[in-house]
Amino acid sequence: MLKKQVGVIGMAVMGYNLALNIESKGYLVSIFNRSHEKTKEIISKNQEKKIFPYFNLKEFIFSLEKPRKVLLMIQAGCAIDNVINSILPYLEKGDVVIDGGNSFYQDTIIRNRYLEKKGIYFIGAGISGGEEGALKGPCIMPGGSRKGYFIIESLFKNISAKINNQSCVDYIGENGSGHYVKMIHNGIEYGDMQLISESYSFLKNILNCNNIEISNIFSDWNKGELNSYLIEITKNIFNKKDNKGNYIIDSILDEASSKGTGKWVSQNSLELEEPLSLITESVFARYISNMKNQRIIANKKLNGPYIKKNNFVKKELIEKIRQALYLGKIISYAQGFSLLRKASEKYNWKLNFQSIASIFRSGCIIRASLLDKISEEYENNKNLLNLLITPYFSKISNLYHISLRDIVSLSVIHGISVPAFCSAISYYDGYRSINSNANLIQAQRDYFGSHTYKRIDQIGSFHTQWV
Ligand code: 6PG
Repeated sequence: MLKKQVGVIGMAVMGYNLALNIESKGYLVSIFNRSHEKTKEIISKNQEKKIFPYFNLKEFIFSLEKPRKVLLMIQAGCAIDNVINSILPYLEKGDVVIDGGNSFYQDTIIRNRYLEKKGIYFIGAGISGGEEGALKGPCIMPGGSRKGYFIIESLFKNISAKINNQSCVDYIGENGSGHYVKMIHNGIEYGDMQLISESYSFLKNILNCNNIEISNIFSDWNKGELNSYLIEITKNIFNKKDNKGNYIIDSILDEASSKGTGKWVSQNSLELEEPLSLITESVFARYISNMKNQRIIANKKLNGPYIKKNNFVKKELIEKIRQALYLGKIISYAQGFSLLRKASEKYNWKLNFQSIASIFRSGCIIRASLLDKISEEYENNKNLLNLLITPYFSKISNLYHISLRDIVSLSVIHGISVPAFCSAISYYDGYRSINSNANLIQAQRDYFGSHTYKRIDQIGSFHTQWV
């Protein structure tokens, strides 16, 4: 029987659409899913396609040409280990196993070591783009075995998104680096979504804009510096009505879910001692949103400010929000890429930041025009410390920081919670401060615990008898 070129395990939304994408590029695809019903349903829907169903893993693996290319699109966690152990007896040296889910990068490091010892190439590939991206071209961040990557490089290049004829995929680095970069991507996604949602709060609650006005504002913003996938879908969301003619956005419960990548990246920033305040605040904001019952009680007990009717010049303030949103985004990306730099050093990944910014430009959820600028800045300086101090981004920061301050101040005065905007300006001012207040922290530490401090006028460690 004719051997198939690629095998996909896991027929949930991402796995199914990736299988269709791979098939559309001319590959013969074997598929396997835990529930056989799902496999049958897919085959009956795609009878004319070169997708071949298998109902046991041995036959599935043996259906593939060598070296075998097996893409796992299953839920992160122990399910991955279970499937790897189930297919391992049938795999041979030189075969390639790809985990295309949102796995935790430390797990990927362990799996990489485990499979490498058995002569199997293991690739932990971050894949971004949701359902549409999986079908039409996602952004792919593969890390792990370099030799294994060369075996699947042309496949990944064929199925990924394109920008200026370039594929949005590049080998990221050793072991867990691909999934680490995807985790950073998701952190930035959380930050972007939170900043956009805070802008919505401002437009709705302070400027009293209705859904159509808000949609039009996002539509305008999408034509300029803020041009991005997330702004575009936001514009569409505010237009959408249900079958009763009501705007869907107004019926959606305000409790935001999360699957873990935002939490992991925030935890990792603490681990690596690199400030990631904006993304972490975005994760916390989702947690506060989930305290709906407590929020209802607190609303009855805790006062907000009393605001008299205001006479804002709407147009001016809308432009200020735009500027605050753009600078907030820049600060979020600056923090995300700084963490990436720290991780690259710690894990010896030798990450190519220019290439990472460049593949983020299409296919993925955070795709945005801003990434052209980020990519350019890394092209000019591969070792740059922080995006904020580059020529383009420092120029924008200097132009827009007053707007960010105004939006934060007005939100606070009006009792509107804007944690991401607040953390953006705090990081900005903290990062540019020559004299911080940490001298007092050092004095306090020395006072209560003799932890010693350094002086600005002498070398060495000092302790004071404070009492
Ligand atoms: C992507 C997304 C995707 C992620 C969802 C949901 O790049 O396609 O990042 O991988 O799973 O966005 O994530 P949360 O449930 O944590 O919001």
